[in-house]
Amino acid sequence: MSAECSAGWKPTVRQGCSGRAGSSSRAAWAHSVRALLQLLPRGAFKRPDGMVERLAELNHLSVCCAERNRGAAHVVEILGLDPPRDFAGQFLIVDLGNGVSLDYADWNGAEITPQHLAFLVSEDEFDAAYGRIKARGIEHWAEPCRRTPGAINNHDGSRGVYWRDPEGHLLELITPPYGAETEASGG
Ligand SMILES: [Fe+2]
Repeated sequence: MSAECSAGWKPTVRQGCSGRAGSSSRAAWAHSVRALLQLLPRGAFKRPDGMVERLAELNHLSVCCAERNRGAAHVVEILGLDPPRDFAGQFLIVDLGNGVSLDYADWNGAEITPQHLAFLVSEDEFDAAYGRIKARGIEHWAEPCRRTPGAINNHDGSRGVYWRDPEGHLLELITPPYGAETEASGG
């Protein structure tokens, strides 16, 4: 246990958020929390009531492929991302907007279990990506069980769609308009 922890140090945390704040104040609050978390050593704090804990951050996710070039090229093309980066001749790294990377790797003939990857995008990005899906004639569905061909969903006022990449992984686009429900209700 660290000295700070044994001394009972606690960062100041706003309590009792009603969840009815506007999007700008929520963004400011989220920014403040992120800034506070940057000050905390990783994994140094337990979480008694009201205490902010530094959580582990997802850094990368390996995506198993029969052909990593094919898998990485597909997601980059559909989502409009930067070209993949080669790492050690073994991975093709696709960088995402939140700092997490997808590391596409050849599985060398081993059986590949389909993975599910969901991407949070803006409305404009959804339009562009979904346009590419349709333009390429890629089969897609409104839900992961694939019973609604050619459809998208509108859960909670957002848009979502599922499709399979050439490697068999189930990909998803979502556009949850954070706070839209609250703002629509006058909050
Ligand atoms: Fe999902």
